[in-house]
Amino acid sequence: MATAAAYCLPLFLLLLPPLIIAAPSAAAAGPELQPQPQDLLLSFKAALRDPSGALASWSLSTPYCNWPHITCTASSSSSSVVSIAVSLQGLGLSGDIDAASLCRVPGLSHLSLASNAFNTTVPLQLSRCASLVSLNLSSAAFWGPLPEQLAAGLPPSLASLDLSGNDIEGPVPPGLAALGAALQVLDLGRNRLSGVLHPALFRNLTGLHYLDLSGNQFLESPLPPELGKMGNLRWLFLQGSGFTGAIPETFLALEQLEALDLSMNGLTGAIPRGFGRKFQKLLSLDLSRNGFSGPFPDGVEKCVMLQRFQVHDNAFTGELPAGLWSLPDLQVIRAENNRFSGRLPEFPGEVSRLEQVQVDNNSFSGGLPLTIGMIRTMYRFSASLNKLSGVLPDNLCDSPVMSIINISHNALSGSIPEFRNCKRLVSLHLSSNGLTGPIPTSLGALPVLTYIDLSSNGLTGAIPANLQNLKLALLNVSYNRLSGPVPQELISGLPAVFLQGNPGLCGPGLSNNCVVPLRKHRWLALAATVASFITGAMLLAIGAFAVYRRLYGKRPSPWKLVLFQPIKITGEELFSAFHDKNVIGRGAFGNVYLIVLQDGQKVAVKRLVCSDKLTFRQVKSEMNVLAKIRHKNIAKITGFCYSEGEAKDCAGSSSGIGVPSP
Ligand SMILES: *[C@@H]1O[C@H](CO)[C@@H](O)[C@H](O)[C@H]1NC(C)=O
Ligand SMILES: *[C@@H]1O[C@H](CO)[C@@H](O)[C@H](O)[C@H]1NC(C)=O
Ligand SMILES: *[C@@H]1O[C@H](CO)[C@@H](O)[C@H](O)[C@H]1NC(C)=O
Ligand SMILES: *[C@@H]1O[C@H](CO)[C@@H](O)[C@H](O)[C@H]1NC(C)=O
Ligand SMILES: *[C@@H]1O[C@H](CO)[C@@H](O)[C@H](O)[C@H]1NC(C)=O
Ligand SMILES: *[C@@H]1O[C@H](CO)[C@@H](O)[C@H](O)[C@H]1NC(C)=O
Repeated sequence: MATAAAYCLPLFLLLLPPLIIAAPSAAAAGPELQPQPQDLLLSFKAALRDPSGALASWSLSTPYCNWPHITCTASSSSSSVVSIAVSLQGLGLSGDIDAASLCRVPGLSHLSLASNAFNTTVPLQLSRCASLVSLNLSSAAFWGPLPEQLAAGLPPSLASLDLSGNDIEGPVPPGLAALGAALQVLDLGRNRLSGVLHPALFRNLTGLHYLDLSGNQFLESPLPPELGKMGNLRWLFLQGSGFTGAIPETFLALEQLEALDLSMNGLTGAIPRGFGRKFQKLLSLDLSRNGFSGPFPDGVEKCVMLQRFQVHDNAFTGELPAGLWSLPDLQVIRAENNRFSGRLPEFPGEVSRLEQVQVDNNSFSGGLPLTIGMIRTMYRFSASLNKLSGVLPDNLCDSPVMSIINISHNALSGSIPEFRNCKRLVSLHLSSNGLTGPIPTSLGALPVLTYIDLSSNGLTGAIPANLQNLKLALLNVSYNRLSGPVPQELISGLPAVFLQGNPGLCGPGLSNNCVVPLRKHRWLALAATVASFITGAMLLAIGAFAVYRRLYGKRPSPWKLVLFQPIKITGEELFSAFHDKNVIGRGAFGNVYLIVLQDGQKVAVKRLVCSDKLTFRQVKSEMNVLAKIRHKNIAKITGFCYSEGEAKDCAGSSSGIGVPSP
């Protein structure tokens, strides 16, 4: 009582002078000439600066109930006005707030001055608005402390007070406690409030169902156990406000909670046992970015309506409650950057509503859940930096909306499955595992795939040419055992491509550039030239000299056909094509023949005339090099045909060749 009196006294003194001043004029005019609401509203307007003229049409020529931004509510029984709402949010107003006039408007129940540019302190005289039910001063450039006199003087009818998004500083005035159980909404978020919260606040404000003290980084307060007495709380936002210490046991009693956000504070300690067991209505839980430790207690799996579970960036250990993963409405699990361990359980498959699972940087072990791909809502799965082992499930990205997969830095093995269904996959990160086998060509057919990181695995084979079809922003295949030519556009195009640590890769700009200097190997140059004018067909070159020897000579010896591309051709088809009617080009080193294969593909075949400057081995190795050249003006070599037996007889007896990209 003593403190209450101390708070009330200055208010009383302060309020006296205006009353005294007002009294004589009222007395002089006579009681029947009390200022009318429209006069009071016009006085209030006169002090405001209204650059956009939003209130220009407030004038005595129309009834004030018809003025813009004013709403009158009549009682149902008579036509008399019972309550007035003045809603001036977002009008670019500044200047003085003549609260003394405004608060004398009878029945003023709702006042919003939100989203304006007042650049002033909160007017003390607002406490004289005796019938206010809601007061909204959010984001209106108010600064300075919230006077105790104002807080304690607010009318007992007040149900909603919004002062959020200003520069209000100093302590949260304990005088707000005088509002008692009538106050339902208190939003002091995003200000510069500081100090310790007074327990009386929470002891008395038992009617609150919305409390926001978030974004007051200068508060340095433990979470008052009294908060747990606010049994009607449905939304509790305390994030980013310098709260310290543990979650009080009393929180277990907040059975009406729908959203609890304690993120980005300095909270520590273990979560009270049974936390969540009674939160039958909880939709969103955010404890992220604190210093919580210990295991996450059983109880949260009883939050049957939970949609978001966010506990990332803490120091939690142990397993997550198994039932959590299969909560029917759960959409988001964020548990990354903790020390959780154990297996990732199977998700309930198709009935799950999970959209986002992030459990990176923990100690989860065992295999990946086989049900990830069955969840039709899943768009992000990341479990990097764990100890996961086993193979990648074939259906990993079968969810029709899967966009982001990051399972890098684990101990996964086996090969990368063909990802055929992931039409929405944007980002695929599988680096630093033990994956082997080839890069699946199906990746090149995923329409929106943009980031691929397969680095630091044991992948082998060539980089699929069809990755060129993608609009890549990143391709990191470094530190694998890839080999062969790097598809041209991956080198010359825009994407940042990282290839280092694959000695077998070659291409322009790499240490092995695939191309052999042309001066030394004129016949290669020739092959390239020939090929360059045969677009749309394939070119296969053949050791002409040797062919003649084989076909018309005495001793048949085995011919070997080496193909770099999957075409169906037999030696017979090849040799039978050597008719003049098939010649499409003639050159010093041999003729070029066109063959139409059984499947309709056209293949150009160059018969190389024996050159005594090349050994057979050289020819073979040049063919291999030639096979790796990719240029739009140079035909791709699809293969070559040779007979080793002929090497003795004629160096350079064989060769093959290819064709241009279509
Ligand atoms: C607010 O008012 C002060 C003077 O009281 C002035 O210096 C400052 O520039 C104003 N701020 C804005 C945003 O108008
Ligand atoms: C206060 O006004 C702002 C702007 O109109 C609005 O977004 C906010 O919801 C209001 N606050 C309350 C508690 O109604
Ligand atoms: C708490 O509310 C009661 C009435 O509801 C009131 O008498 C008391 O003064 C309030 N306490 C404080 C600290 O304002
Ligand atoms: C992993 O999480 C711990 C906290 O548990 C954090 O300190 C560390 O920085 C995180 N590591 C990475 C790479 O994010
Ligand atoms: C994938 O996970 C690794 C390791 O946690 C991390 O460094 C990387 O940024 C993640 N990539 C994406 C795209 O999230
Ligand atoms: C590519 O992968 C290597 C090996 O994992 C890594 O060191 C490098 O930072 C990555 N580069 C980019 C740009 O992701």
